[in-house]
Amino acid sequence: MRVFLGITGASGAPYAARLLAALSCSCSEVGVCASSAGLEVLATELYGDARLSRDETVERFLEHARGGSVTVYDPQDWRAPYASGSAKVDAYVICPCSMGTLGTVASGAMQNLIHRAASVALKEGRKLVLMPRETPLSAIHLRNMLTLREAGATILFLAPGFYHGAETVDDLVDFVVARCLDQLGIDHALTRRWGQ
Ligand SMILES: Cc1cc2nc3c(=O)[nH]c(=O)nc-3n(C[C@H](O)[C@H](O)[C@H](O)COP(=O)(O)O)c2cc1C
Repeated sequence: MRVFLGITGASGAPYAARLLAALSCSCSEVGVCASSAGLEVLATELYGDARLSRDETVERFLEHARGGSVTVYDPQDWRAPYASGSAKVDAYVICPCSMGTLGTVASGAMQNLIHRAASVALKEGRKLVLMPRETPLSAIHLRNMLTLREAGATILFLAPGFYHGAETVDDLVDFVVARCLDQLGIDHALTRRWGQ
């Protein structure tokens, strides 16, 4: 399975790290692209240093990978396979997804590889999972999400449930990442399933 993982500047870096670990275990290839705000959030939330350099942030983030083939792309790399519908890609995920990226993709504009990959997924009718985080939500945010849902995207809000006996923050992160893996059809044992 070949999966694109876009990381943008919404709060939720631990979800992205856990998702990279799970995808790199299960997929033959993972393409990662982080916006500059996405890198700032990774540096702030995972490493406690908003001023960490781009290279160091990427290097440390890749330590979350658990094997497989993981390639990092620059946000302006229009030659990346994920920039074209002619490349075979099974699924696209943006986690976390900022309201800025959500609005750009909903408008059809493409300012970086993350927007372009999401747009390719929609035009090709492929799986696109958007994992937004913001609160409260304006009418504009809500309309953009509806637009994207109607265009075929899955909106998987970064909102963990508390009914599965979570004891740690990691349990809450796993809850959301498990829902994403379910959407991608990837087997996992991150959480107990309801009724089991
Ligand atoms: C630490 C930090 C946390 C942020 N949290 C959010 C958030 O939860 N949701 C959101 O939509 N934007 C958030 N932002 C603002 C976005 O990063 C900003 O709008 C940025 O332009 C998004 O660009 P991108 O979509 O290209 O990554 C945050 C920014 C920083 C630095």
